[in-house]
Amino acid sequence: MCRPRRLRQSPILREMVRETRLHPSQLVLPLFVRFGRKLRRPIAAMPGVFQVSPDELVREAAQALEAGVPAVLLFGIPETKDARASGAYAPKGIVQQAVRLLKRELPPLLIITDVCLCEYMSHGHCGVVGRGRAGAEILNDPSLKLLARAAASQVEAGADMVAPSDMMDGRVGAIRAQLDALGFINTPILSYAAKFASAFYGPFREAAESAPKFGDRRSYQMDAANGAEALREVALDLQEGADIVMVKPALAYLDVLCRVKTQFGCPTAAYSVSAEYSMIKAAAANGWIDERAVTLETLLAMRRAGADLLITYAAPQVARWLKEG
Ligand code: PBG
Repeated sequence: MCRPRRLRQSPILREMVRETRLHPSQLVLPLFVRFGRKLRRPIAAMPGVFQVSPDELVREAAQALEAGVPAVLLFGIPETKDARASGAYAPKGIVQQAVRLLKRELPPLLIITDVCLCEYMSHGHCGVVGRGRAGAEILNDPSLKLLARAAASQVEAGADMVAPSDMMDGRVGAIRAQLDALGFINTPILSYAAKFASAFYGPFREAAESAPKFGDRRSYQMDAANGAEALREVALDLQEGADIVMVKPALAYLDVLCRVKTQFGCPTAAYSVSAEYSMIKAAAANGWIDERAVTLETLLAMRRAGADLLITYAAPQVARWLKEG
């Protein structure tokens, strides 16, 4: 009779029959860049994470690359915000400048840029705000033009892949059409396809200075109760031309990850978001959990659920742990 325990007796056999592995090549490090020089502003709820100026960004990215992390995901904090998010598509915007610098200083690094309007909007929403029946509303279609413009300007600056995180309907198609029209037919789109309205983004909003000034994001981000809807969101993004689809947050949505991977079998990313990082850091700082073991176990769970790419603030540390063995 088969006794699974038999194979667990030998460390060599345990390694041979492992179904899932973690490798630095799967990791993506999110980074926050703002104007300035020699600037490293700590994020209170995210120990080890900083808003950095472009010069420091190069250092941070170089260290990640050195540790074996092949890719970064860039978020920008502009100097000024307005109601048209002009900083998101300004040729000399913070992300555009940072991308040019990174491309020059670290050519092997894969640069992914987050495409959203919230950091650049005076009201902090991911789309254009207008007057609707119920007062202020997020307007879907006017937002698409700005998102496509932002993505195009990032790719013109040298971004290798764009990652729309706004959750407007039709944005992947709008961005694809714009990139194709400009000749960037081989620049892929990593879409935040199933992005839930989540309390796990709390620390990020401090990091990106992107908290909405009124209301919340529930008119465009998904309801945490819905799994089947996540599959519809993913199907739409794939139809519109997404090359990699993301589930976000990761840890509380492993069932969604698993369903997405099972149903579509396409390249899938898990975004282990800010509060997932903060919770582990806080418990570890209290001596309540083993930071390394818990971090690796949660990332392994995301891989087991179906994630190919792992987006995590702990990426450089994880890469170093994996190298140590
Ligand atoms: C912007 C965006 C958010 C995150 C990534 N892109 C915040 C939000 O939707 O409010 C969250 C990332 C994290 O918490 O680590 N739309």
